[in-house]
Amino acid sequence: MTKKVAVIGGDGIGPEVVAEGVKVLEALKELRGWAIELHPFELGAERYLKDGTTFPAEVSDFIAKECDAVLLGALGDPRVPDMKHARDILFGLRFGLDLFVNLRPIQCLHERLMPLKGVRPDEVDIIVLRENTEGIYVGMGGTFKQGTPDEVATQVDLNTRKGVERIIREAFEIARRTGRKSVHMADKHNAMPDAHGLWLRTFREVATEYPEIAAHHVFVDALCLYLVQDPRPFEVIVSCNLFGDIITDLGAALQGGLGMAASGNVHPGRVSMFEPVHGSAPPLAGKDVANPLATVLTVGMLLTHLGFEGEEALLTRLVREAIETGHCTREVGGDLGTRATGDWIVRRLREEAK
Ligand code: IPM
Ligand code: MN
Repeated sequence: MTKKVAVIGGDGIGPEVVAEGVKVLEALKELRGWAIELHPFELGAERYLKDGTTFPAEVSDFIAKECDAVLLGALGDPRVPDMKHARDILFGLRFGLDLFVNLRPIQCLHERLMPLKGVRPDEVDIIVLRENTEGIYVGMGGTFKQGTPDEVATQVDLNTRKGVERIIREAFEIARRTGRKSVHMADKHNAMPDAHGLWLRTFREVATEYPEIAAHHVFVDALCLYLVQDPRPFEVIVSCNLFGDIITDLGAALQGGLGMAASGNVHPGRVSMFEPVHGSAPPLAGKDVANPLATVLTVGMLLTHLGFEGEEALLTRLVREAIETGHCTREVGGDLGTRATGDWIVRRLREEAK
């Protein structure tokens, strides 16, 4: 059956890195003879400023009913300071498709990218599962007496037993599937005994179903300290939406920066969305300097989701080789532009297929 992939470049460097991801997808499609259709959508700040469109129902319906995956670049533009379009599109996908697993691998692919002394790159190989449909991101809150000295603002941290349980269970399932021996759950139940008490109780209960996997609780502030001191003991980390967001930017630093961090927003077995972790980086846009390698790794994750096993490992190997041989952008030690980096990956894919 033909696989359908919606493609949304978005803002800033998003369309540039996605163009390289698309090159990689098109090349693999041709080399392997896959039946994949790509469906590009012009959505983002430009479109919003032109005609007020953010995430139209016909696009979200098409994605929900017809597509198998979405490849997204990045959203955010200084001309839209309240990020209205970005929230509509990004959260429209994450919440609308119930993509409860934000899967963010932290792997360091080369010595040059490792910021920590005495840690080998292959010793950092962590999978972070960020809860992606609840927490502080649900948009429940409000302001009262805004702009006065008596202003009040609230933002509700929403946690449900169902939501917490399914992400924790997925963390143990992934540990089991990938042969990892431990899961760390990061919360702040010392400061948030109600919301995060639910996380701790659920974690302890679910852990009993996976006796072969060590279940550790860690406070998220301490986790940040440990990850910088020595990330080696960590294999799988599960946390709430907000903490997962923060942990994975720290994690990106262990990978060589945001230009190397890939992610999937997944509902196992359903249409899911894949995006590099980095933002739209407006000052870099249009200069052919953005690092497309996070997007290449993200395409690897997308292909695994579509059932094309083995391609993610291949793309990861080629990205490692690009870094090793300097066929990459400046901030990861090379001297190529965005497009030439994508071209190099495609050339290597063609050589490997011969
Ligand atoms: C991310 C981003 C988003 C988030 C922003 C743009 C709302 O930081 O995907 O990590 O916080 O989820
Ligand atoms: Mn983030």
